[in-house]
Amino acid sequence: MARTCLTIILAAGEGSRMKSSTPKVLHKIANKTLLGHVMNAAQIAGGNSHSVVVGKEAAKVEAEAKTHSDKVDVFLQTERLGTGHAVLAAKDAIEREFDDILVLFGDTPLIQAETLQRLRKSLENGAQVVVLGFRTNDPTGYGRLVENEGKLVAIREHKDASEDELKIKFCNGGIMAFSGKHAMSLLNAIGNDNVNKEYYLTDIVEIAKKGDLKVVAIEADESEVMGVNDRFQLAQIEDIWQQTKRAELMRSGVTMHAPSTVYLSYDTIIEPDTIIEPNVVFGPNVSVKSAAQIKAFSHLEGAQVASKAIVGPYARLRPGAQLKEGSKVGNFCEIKNAIVEEGAKVNHLSYIGDAHIGKNANIGAGTITCNYDGMNKHKTKIGENAFIGSNSSLIAPVEIGDDAYVGSGSVITSNVPSNDLAIARSRQSNKTGLAIKIRARNQAIKDAKNK
Ligand code: UD1
Ligand code: CA
Repeated sequence: MARTCLTIILAAGEGSRMKSSTPKVLHKIANKTLLGHVMNAAQIAGGNSHSVVVGKEAAKVEAEAKTHSDKVDVFLQTERLGTGHAVLAAKDAIEREFDDILVLFGDTPLIQAETLQRLRKSLENGAQVVVLGFRTNDPTGYGRLVENEGKLVAIREHKDASEDELKIKFCNGGIMAFSGKHAMSLLNAIGNDNVNKEYYLTDIVEIAKKGDLKVVAIEADESEVMGVNDRFQLAQIEDIWQQTKRAELMRSGVTMHAPSTVYLSYDTIIEPDTIIEPNVVFGPNVSVKSAAQIKAFSHLEGAQVASKAIVGPYARLRPGAQLKEGSKVGNFCEIKNAIVEEGAKVNHLSYIGDAHIGKNANIGAGTITCNYDGMNKHKTKIGENAFIGSNSSLIAPVEIGDDAYVGSGSVITSNVPSNDLAIARSRQSNKTGLAIKIRARNQAIKDAKNK
């Protein structure tokens, strides 16, 4: 039977360096909260239940946690007495007897599921306590992994370390796993006899050793355990995340002309043989199919772009935009909750909202679907092969039939049947020579003023 796993996510740090009214773990990387990143990794690694330990704003954190899993408990740590004390806030969950317990930090979003799986594997192979270490040239501030003959014997916090221990470059990444069976006795044995007068979770290494339990350290890359304390670090971690995701996409067959200017979301899907030009932003929930092209300075969210479609430059696709195969949405166009069928073109300066545009229809420059009356949204339907002349306003609800024509500058208020031409503008009349008279009159007014 698969081993059960509880993850305890510590998030009771006051987060004051963020200078924010939002709890630290609810800040986002790639449009997903730090907490969401950590919880997702934990879930992929087989976490069955999550306990989040918070210091304030419990309700907000709980609401966010529940969007990622329905097996969530939130515990309040009212006094911040150290990481060992924080873990014990989740005592009620720990006592439910899980096989594995993983302790994660809520502000360490780059942790990989694969690494958590390695920690769990060590437990499965007989270790009772597993520590995730990393090597760094600047270990300042971190707990040091003290080894004896290659075996982990203690973790010494920076402030408590001896001269010799301070030279150690193998550090505690903060993430730890221990066997559920021994959890309570190990945690209860933690004292606060140290410089900070805190209950250090890290003390369970020495406690376990004394009890003849098996303790091991495994290693990860430093970047995986980087934590967010302020907004500069938030940006640095975002940068690492973005670089990793871009590299992944490019290696899978996506061309990016200026990768560092492309912003991706946690769930962005881009298929091979697509071209992404510079300065493109992908908000949440976007997929781009093979051989599509996203030209420079486009902004997409909640949009689906089919194969061979062309978007931009300077296009905005909002939630519900669905571009079908070979369709085109050009510069300064906004598409919201609208389907643009195969081969249809919306090439210049248009707003298309709550609409369906038929196959191969051509939407002229400046066409606006007037979808909102100040209270309600209404639909516009444009048939196959329809041609909408430039600068037309289509007042929804309205339908333009297949193969119909709308004359430029029309304000369309009622349906246009298939194959009809609709012109809804006043007829032009030319007054012969009247321009000369007008010019003379205007000149006279100007001269009178300048006297
Ligand atoms: C901790 C480790 C250290 C490790 C480092 C890695 C301990 C004692 N030390 O140190 O060995 O190298 O992380 O980054 O574990 N928290 C609570 N309640 C508390 C205290 C902390 O929820 O009472 C949470 C914080 O929100 C944070 C995490 O625990 O997410 C770590 O706490 P922090 O004070 O940052 O520990 P460090 O001193 O960095
Ligand atoms: Ca820290």
